[in-house]
Amino acid sequence: MVDEEHGSPAAEVFDALGIEYEKAFASSSAHRASLDWLLARLAPGSRVLDVGSGTGRPTAAVLAAAGHRVLGLDVSPVMVEIASRQVPEAEFRCADVRRTPLEDASFDAVCVYFSLLQMTRTEQAELVARLARALRPGGLFALATVPLDVEEFDGVFMGQPVRVTGFAAEDVVAVVRAAGLTVQSQESVMFTPTHADAMPEPQLFLHCRREETEPAG
Ligand SMILES: C[S@@+](CC[C@H](N)C(=O)[O-])C[C@H]1O[C@@H](n2cnc3c(N)ncnc32)[C@H](O)[C@@H]1O
Repeated sequence: MVDEEHGSPAAEVFDALGIEYEKAFASSSAHRASLDWLLARLAPGSRVLDVGSGTGRPTAAVLAAAGHRVLGLDVSPVMVEIASRQVPEAEFRCADVRRTPLEDASFDAVCVYFSLLQMTRTEQAELVARLARALRPGGLFALATVPLDVEEFDGVFMGQPVRVTGFAAEDVVAVVRAAGLTVQSQESVMFTPTHADAMPEPQLFLHCRREETEPAG
């Protein structure tokens, strides 16, 4: 299904980067370790939502190869075209996740790898809460981001102008807890993408579970 978004700053950046993004980031051992955390806990044939699925590699490719049913959402038509070609065993839709309806308790796991950074803080927190509700109770949530305390910071990412908003690490943790998720493990790393214009960046990976029952009150 293609529901193309026009005029999104994220779509412009990632349409321009395309496969270059994968070449720069595919060597991340922390990302692979995060996928291993999911693989070790998912029941066979689990339904997984990959938010900001990029080129489909490594996330959708690794999860689909293990037999899970993966739905990738991405606002960049170029990324969706690459992912659909590279990982035909997964399903990809071109859509802005902020405006994509998600059924409650409909996924066994949700992954959000580096796809929040072009949203406002309010949008990021609201989205995490909505994604938590889309998980079945006890479902798994993997989130990775660049834990920078910046709002609408104008920078350059792999040669592309970007406007970035993030949270400090402790505030990312607060956002996922407020969504009813329990952090089971976290990893902070420095990663240098394989790209001439890339800078070393801090990365935070959180591995969480939706609580089995709603918090009281
Ligand atoms: C930094 S890339 C990461 C790609 C992939 N998750 C990975 O780790 O390899 C961020 C991706 O999120 C997508 N994205 C950003 N904002 C989005 C939004 N509002 N809705 C859907 N996708 C979005 C971008 O188009 C891009 O493909």
